[in-house]
Amino acid sequence: MTHKPVRKAVFPVAGLGTRFLPATKAMPKEMLTVVDKPLIQYAVEEALEAGIEQIIFVTGRGKSSLEDHFDISYELEATMRARGKSLAAIENIRQKPGSPVYVRQQEPLGLGHAVWCAREIVGDEPFAVLLPDELMVGAPNFLKQMVEAYAAVGGNIVGALEVPDEETDKYGVISPGRTDGRLTEVTALVEKPARGTAPSNLMIPGRYILQPEVMKVLDDPVTGAGGEIQLTDAMAQLIGRQPFHGYTFDGQRYDCGDKAGYIQANLALALARDDIGPAVRDFARKLLG
Ligand code: UTP
Repeated sequence: MTHKPVRKAVFPVAGLGTRFLPATKAMPKEMLTVVDKPLIQYAVEEALEAGIEQIIFVTGRGKSSLEDHFDISYELEATMRARGKSLAAIENIRQKPGSPVYVRQQEPLGLGHAVWCAREIVGDEPFAVLLPDELMVGAPNFLKQMVEAYAAVGGNIVGALEVPDEETDKYGVISPGRTDGRLTEVTALVEKPARGTAPSNLMIPGRYILQPEVMKVLDDPVTGAGGEIQLTDAMAQLIGRQPFHGYTFDGQRYDCGDKAGYIQANLALALARDDIGPAVRDFARKLLG
């Protein structure tokens, strides 16, 4: 059976980034850089590599630098050209005319609400959601692995990542059914379960492939954990009506919305680089004695 291809990806970028203040007071969290690239660019590149054709940003006030990042920078490019400098670092960031598409959330009422704001652009198609503050490193990349799994099973697929039991109250958590390789049937979902009540220690990281019916559920939202409209609660409504799987990612996740996770991402990616890796390694060794 063939499943409608996943051509569109939604990037919710309208959050306030309160865990990363003061850095995010006047700058979008998604523009924080890991080594030399903003988080949003990693996520957009992941989506394009996975075959996504339409990029949709759900944005808000104070986020215009995100839009500029994917546009032409005339002054910068003209000056660099005039000085004979290579444009390699910026050439392929610019998107084709008409892309990305931007929609506004107006108020950060939660991830479910952010995704719902893209409903008119998503239309009647399956779509991906990528949370850019979670940096995923793997080959093939996370979304590509999920798109390949989707080709086999269709329906809805979320990431499934093992975390220590004492951390499950921070995340959306999967209640697992039958497992087949990297795919696990999802029998229930719960957002931020109280300590000791989590159905498993499989959390849902920030990558999703969803059917458009989730937008219908979000038409009539319920306020969930933290007083926010939770995507997890809406996705849970689809279980039993449509195939629903968790996918265990072969790769590394860095939570860059968290200061420690962000520093770890910078260190790991810097060490992996040919140009600056040796210098960073020497320094880290000295620092750690
Ligand atoms: P987070 O909950 O990690 O982001 O949402 P946040 O709310 O900006 O951060 P903190 O917790 O206050 O530090 C994950 C992603 O979803 C987006 C965020 O921009 C981020 O990319 N988001 C979240 C929205 O677009 N709208 C929302 O209402 C909530």
